[in-house]
Amino acid sequence: MKGTRQDIERLISNQKSLLETIPEMVLLTKESDWVEYMNPSAKHFFGDLCRQVLNGDPARQSKASALLQIVAQTIENNHVGGTLETTFGQSHLEYTLAPFKGYKGDPLYWFFIRDLTEHKKHLEELSLFHNSIETILSHKINELKESERTRQKLASELNSLKEHLKEQPAEGKMIGSSRALSELRNMVFQVAKSDATILITGESGTGKELVANLLRESSNRNNTPFLKINCNTINDSLLESDLFGHEKGAFTGADSKRKGKFEVVDGGTIFLDEIGDISPRMQAALLRVLQDGDIIRVGGNTPTKIDVRIIAATNLDLASMVQKGTFRLDLYYRLNIINISIPPLRERKEDIVDLTTHFVRKYRHAFKKEINFLPQSILDRLLLHDWPGNVRELENVIQRAVLMAKNNIITENELFFDNAPCNKPQTPQKNYLQRIDGRTLKDIVAEIEKDIILCVLEKNHGNVPHTVLQLDIGKTAFYDKMKRHSISPKTLK
Ligand SMILES: Nc1ncnc2c1ncn2[C@@H]1O[C@H](COP(=O)(O)OP(=O)(O)OP(=O)(O)O)[C@@H](O)[C@H]1O
Ligand SMILES: [Mg+2]
Repeated sequence: MKGTRQDIERLISNQKSLLETIPEMVLLTKESDWVEYMNPSAKHFFGDLCRQVLNGDPARQSKASALLQIVAQTIENNHVGGTLETTFGQSHLEYTLAPFKGYKGDPLYWFFIRDLTEHKKHLEELSLFHNSIETILSHKINELKESERTRQKLASELNSLKEHLKEQPAEGKMIGSSRALSELRNMVFQVAKSDATILITGESGTGKELVANLLRESSNRNNTPFLKINCNTINDSLLESDLFGHEKGAFTGADSKRKGKFEVVDGGTIFLDEIGDISPRMQAALLRVLQDGDIIRVGGNTPTKIDVRIIAATNLDLASMVQKGTFRLDLYYRLNIINISIPPLRERKEDIVDLTTHFVRKYRHAFKKEINFLPQSILDRLLLHDWPGNVRELENVIQRAVLMAKNNIITENELFFDNAPCNKPQTPQKNYLQRIDGRTLKDIVAEIEKDIILCVLEKNHGNVPHTVLQLDIGKTAFYDKMKRHSISPKTLK
């Protein structure tokens, strides 16, 4: 008996110490009549509501009856043993009611309570947070949809721009579908990759410079320097020291050693335009470059190795110059390893329509004109012409026609191939022969040249392309001459 009692006491003491330590609130009620026991967590939360301490304290009394009300309702609703939720003042509680038979057989209830207030608050915050995330996301989705719409709009604008650009002239391309031009184009691409020297021949305006550009673009040297030299614009000694450099003291004014263009452009390409115009001395120097791959600076005697690719062009007949003895045969051979000969436009009239369309597009774009119709009569007229100035002349004729066209059509009125003489007589008329005493030939020729350029430019209202066409001279050469004679086309408009 004593042992049993001790066992009971031990059990009660164990149960008590367990209840004292757990964080959940535990109450023991006598049905819904009064509170028999509260563990420290419960007391901390509600205050001590046990029967023995109420003692008529109205605040505690009402708290206790509110709690016992919950117990009564749970029993009444048969929810004993279930996990339920309720509010108590500002607090949100989760609770379970479990029946417990007292030591004396009393009908008691364990009332286990957990305070969910913080947890609920947290959940509310979480749901608020979710809601705002949802709002932000839906905003972002709308923004993305909007930017996708903008992207699609821009893409379609870009496409139409590309379509439009397709119509723009392909600057630098060789236009023409004649057999001669197709063969020429094939040849350009075939020989471009080799480092071989190339001689481009053809009448003025046939496209020699265009071919030189294409050769260089399609070569392995397309990223290295490209130097264009017009051989007829620089005088002999200047050209030589300009190209090959000079040693200190090589001539008056050469106060320091200087590298020439061939050395500066090392690894690149040099285009020697109008090669037929170089002097015998320059021919010898150039031969050395082509033969031995080196140069000797003016005033020096040690050769310097260089690596340049030479592309030369001329509208002169070098073979007959060789026969006449004005061009070295050995240089001719070295230059003429590969010859690209561009036929004159009159021999490939099939290209006229393509070229005309190309130039109409080019200039209607440049002059912002709406020209979209070329009558057959105009094409027939262009096909009839012999084009002594070749493609350059055709380009000029079309340029002028587009500029002058009144509506969206080019008519015969805008088409003219004038070669009229200078209509403004020189005042006072110059008689060069009366003024030759004491002057060099070069000086007199320069004066005549200047007068001719001025006269023709004036007639063409300062229009350089027309003047170039009329005088049948390369554009580069013409600009060089204008610079040398201090002529500005603007003042002649
Ligand atoms: N096949 C072509 N397609 C498009 N444009 C061309 C074509 N051939 C020539 N041209 C144009 O004609 C003009 C004259 O060409 P380029 O200057 O190359 O001729 P060139 O033979 O060097 O003349 P010149 O001997 O007078 O220096 C340039 O504006 C060039 O773009
Ligand atoms: Mg040229």
